[in-house]
This record gives sequence, C-alpha cells and structure tokens, in this order.
Amino acid sequence: MATKEFKRAARIILVGAPGVGKGTQAERLIQRFPQLSAVSSGDLLRNAVRNKTPLGQEAESHMQSGSLVPDDMILRLILSELKSKSWIPPSTSLADAAPTLPSSSPTASFILDGFPRTSPQASKLDSLIPINLVVSLITPVNIILGRIANRWVHAPSGRVYNTGFNKPRMEGKDDVTGDALTKREDDGEETWRARLRKFEETSEPLLEHYERKGVLCRVEGNSSDEISPKLFGEFERRFC
Ligand code: AP5
Ligand code: MG
Repeated sequence: MATKEFKRAARIILVGAPGVGKGTQAERLIQRFPQLSAVSSGDLLRNAVRNKTPLGQEAESHMQSGSLVPDDMILRLILSELKSKSWIPPSTSLADAAPTLPSSSPTASFILDGFPRTSPQASKLDSLIPINLVVSLITPVNIILGRIANRWVHAPSGRVYNTGFNKPRMEGKDDVTGDALTKREDDGEETWRARLRKFEETSEPLLEHYERKGVLCRVEGNSSDEISPKLFGEFERRFC
C-alpha cells in the first residue's frame, strides 16, 4: 500500500486492559501507516529485565506481581527512549519540563503502547510532548482471558502471536528471525488478574485526564478484526 501523508503529526496513546490487544493494534496501525512507529513500555521494561540493568532489576518484582512499576522509574525509561528516537530534544529533563507548555513543536508521528498508565505519568508526558489522540480499547474480560493462555511472544522484538488467532508461520518460531517463541512471565491467570485489578484502579483517572483535554476516543469490539477498522477510521479522520 502507498504511504499516505498525514495532515499533521499523530501522537497516539493506546490504553486498555492487559491483553486487550494494544500491541496487536499498534502493529496493525504501523502496517497500514508505515510512517508511524511504536514504543511499548512493557517491552522496554522486559528488555531492561532481560539485560539485568539496574532499572530492570528494580522493576522485575513489580512486574512479576502484576503491579505497576513506580512512576519515576517508568518516566526515566520513557524519557530516555523518546530522546533516543529524537522525538524530544536531547536536553529535555524531567525536572525542567514546563508543566503545561510543550518543550518543542514536535513533528514525529508515533504510538505509545502502555504508557502513560497513571494520571501523574500523563501530566508529566503533557509537559514533554502533547498527545493528540488517546484510544481506549474495550473488549469483554472473559474474551481477553481466553487469549492470554494462547499468547506467545518473541521476547527480543516484542512480536506477539496467538495460537488461536495469528499463528506463527512455523509452530513455536518467530516469523522474522526463526527464534523460539516463549511465554511472558506475567501471563499466568493469577498475575493477569492482578494486572487487571491494577488497570481498573488506574485507568479511570487516566482516561478522565484525556477526556478533559478532548483527545479521548473509545473503540469497542470483541475481536481485533472488529476493532481495527474502527481504529483506522478514527485515525484517518484526524490525521489523513
Ligand atoms: P505491558 O506489557 O504493557 O502489559 P499489559 O498492559 O498488561 O498488556 P499486554 O501486553 O499483556 O496486552 P496487549 O494489550 O498488548 O495485548 P496483545 O496485543 O499482546 O506491561 C507489563 C507490565 O509492565 C505491567 O504489568 C507493569 O508492571 C509494567 N508497566 C508497563 N508500562 C507501565 C507504566 N506506564 N507504568 C508502570 N508500570 C508499567 O494481545 C494479547 C493476546 O491476544 C495476544 O496473544 C494476541 O495475539 C491476542 N489477540 C489480540 N487480538 C486478538 C483477537 N482479536 N482474537 C484473538 N486473539 C487476539
Ligand atoms: Mg502488549
């Protein structure tokens, strides 16, 4: 498909329960609009854990218990990722960002999957780079739970598969590298339920924060095939 020009930079956040399909929808948006790229806070944290960085060692127990990592920890990680992608100026620091004014006129178009997750994280992000579309993905919990059991991941890239829905071309192998697929450590049912409780606690104030700014839209569906066309429609209406 030909690359479509955007009318303006798209800075998108995907919000939703664990396993709702944030990673899946981010991948589909990028396939359709290749000028987008995505950052998943969960993938950044899992890389830090795998590489045994000091931050990863601190984050691991929070993640394994299904709770959130502390705001200051995720903010440090995201700030450094945004800088490394040149989406914000290299001199930006968490301390000196103005509370309401963007520190630059950003031109990059991107998707953030899983960040921000709390309203303090959202307020900090407002001061670094203003977001212009927040998509709340909604699917019934019983449907999500069924998917998690079938999820397999390619840990180094974050690519996600599902044995019932988007199978890898070769069983148990990543399509791109051929590496063995693995299960995520936090995908046991008990941990998933803890993650869901955390999401229910934190998502309401987060969504209210963006509703007040007039950038929130809700996309509901039982499957990604129902959700994707609605998401593409919302995206095109705003940016194409
Ligand atoms: P994170 O990695 O963000 O996990 P999550 O929010 O729990 O979401 P998931 O990645 O589990 O699900 P997803 O919505 O991406 O769904 P997917 O597309 O894979 O965070 C992990 C942890 O890191 C957190 O618990 C926390 O500790 C920490 N953390 C991260 N960000 C943080 C932050 N900002 N602040 C503090 N802590 C933070 O889809 C799920 C499965 O369903 C896949 O197998 C997929 O193939 C399948 N699927 C998708 N659509 C369909 C369909 N239509 N039909 C069937 N299967 C489908
Ligand atoms: Mg994900």
